[in-house]
Amino acid sequence: MNKEMAARKVYNNEPTKSHDCVQSTSNTEQLAASAQTKILGTLAAERLSSLITPISTDHFFKNIWPDNIHYTQHAGALVNDFINQEEFRDLSSLLNIPFKGLSRVNFNNQDDITSKTGLRPEQMLKAYQLFQATIYLQDLQMPLIQSWKESLDTVLNLDPGTSRVGCFISPIGKGHHWHYDPYETIIVQVSGEKRWYLASDDWQRGIGLGHDRMLEYQEWAKCDKSKVPTPEKYQTFDLKPGSVLFIPYGHWHTVENLTESVHLVLNVSRSYLLTGTKP
Ligand SMILES: [Fe+2]
Repeated sequence: MNKEMAARKVYNNEPTKSHDCVQSTSNTEQLAASAQTKILGTLAAERLSSLITPISTDHFFKNIWPDNIHYTQHAGALVNDFINQEEFRDLSSLLNIPFKGLSRVNFNNQDDITSKTGLRPEQMLKAYQLFQATIYLQDLQMPLIQSWKESLDTVLNLDPGTSRVGCFISPIGKGHHWHYDPYETIIVQVSGEKRWYLASDDWQRGIGLGHDRMLEYQEWAKCDKSKVPTPEKYQTFDLKPGSVLFIPYGHWHTVENLTESVHLVLNVSRSYLLTGTKP
């Protein structure tokens, strides 16, 4: 049994071994709890390592997290196991993953965003196929994702329940105008190719219009786009299946889908305690 399977067993509270010896219940429970914590802690570190490879977690915490961009072209095996789940293999399966919170369909052409929420999976699929809408599913709910969220909270020292995993399904073409998000985000490309444009490090952080949160969409539709700042200097990162990009809080970015694209957003909002804003 590999470590991922072992951890899933522990996560699911399934017994891993029968015991013949007699121990007091409390002692046994303590030992089991300690073993669980150890396995889950190790797995959490290994999952982070898989996201940021080839750099070490030490390097990540000393030099990257939470303020600097990090790009991984080919993530490690644990990330690839994660994105190769059956649920991510086709749009219909993806749209049927249960989620909490918001699902949003954006009928957008850059400057004029019309969005709809609360559509059923088959309606979202039609919107994507007929109108080239972008689909956003917030806070996906499946056991493996729950386990990843707990790992991220553990290894990044976040309050339990902070991390969320959402999903964007996007047609070919340019995405949302330059904006920033008020939380730290790890992007994991599942399928297709997507180009990310990230403002250079000397560009302002977290100022101006354009959070891509639901409340701001109406403001966005009404605002004078000529007043939205556009960074003149930027870096580009091309994400293919298994690529990962860490974007710090407030870092301005925009995207272009080189093909149809599916990516996960692991929102690891360290800033949540400060801003009260969950993705
Ligand atoms: Fe964004």
